[in-house]
Amino acid sequence: VTLTIRPAGPQDAAAVAAIHNAGIDSGLATFETRPRTADETAARITATCPPYGFLVAEAGGAVVGWAATYPYSQREAYAGVAEFSIYLAAEARGRGHGHRLLAELLEAAEDAGLHKVTSRLFATNAASRRLCAAVGFREVGVHLRHARLHGTWRDVVVVERLLGAAAADLPSDDERI
Ligand SMILES: CC(C)(COP(=O)(O)OP(=O)(O)OC[C@H]1O[C@@H](n2cnc3c(N)ncnc32)[C@H](O)[C@@H]1OP(=O)(O)O)[C@@H](O)C(=O)NCCC(=O)NCCS
Repeated sequence: VTLTIRPAGPQDAAAVAAIHNAGIDSGLATFETRPRTADETAARITATCPPYGFLVAEAGGAVVGWAATYPYSQREAYAGVAEFSIYLAAEARGRGHGHRLLAELLEAAEDAGLHKVTSRLFATNAASRRLCAAVGFREVGVHLRHARLHGTWRDVVVVERLLGAAAADLPSDDERI
């Protein structure tokens, strides 16, 4: 099946929300517990504008995944830093679709002039950690007991990927203080 990756539009909102809600319900991917409606998802898609992006992956005429960047902080110094999320429909996972989608999201982020993309992954989310490593993220460290999900403390791994000029001549682990 050919995978098409393209910018999301409001007409994708129901599919995007359904995939997001399945990820929320799983309890494996995010601290979020409130399901998203199609309407608020449409509003989020419409409100996303450069330098941020909202992409969907389409296979066989159906949306099977989405990925988005959004502001990391309101502080001006951090205007070039974005956070990201990525969710694939369960039946579409493990086939390289996440890799393609996230790689394209990063390319778009770099083209838009962002200098860093970051996220926090549940330490137990092996697929997400492997995916991030595969597209060049480094694991910065672990926030212990960063929040509770359904009453249980969860550790999260902070990941980052530098882009554009910020990615050039990075000091090695040994050279950093
Ligand atoms: C995390 C997710 C986006 C990965 O997308 P995917 O299409 O399944 O992943 P891919 O097939 O592109 O594989 C990417 C890498 O992860 C590895 N991987 C995939 N599924 C895995 C699993 N269940 N366990 C361990 N590694 C896994 C692949 O082997 C590949 O690594 P490699 O390049 O080193 O071989 C997807 O599984 C998903 O939507 N999960 C639920 C939601 C979620 O956790 N989102 C992330 C929240 S931060």
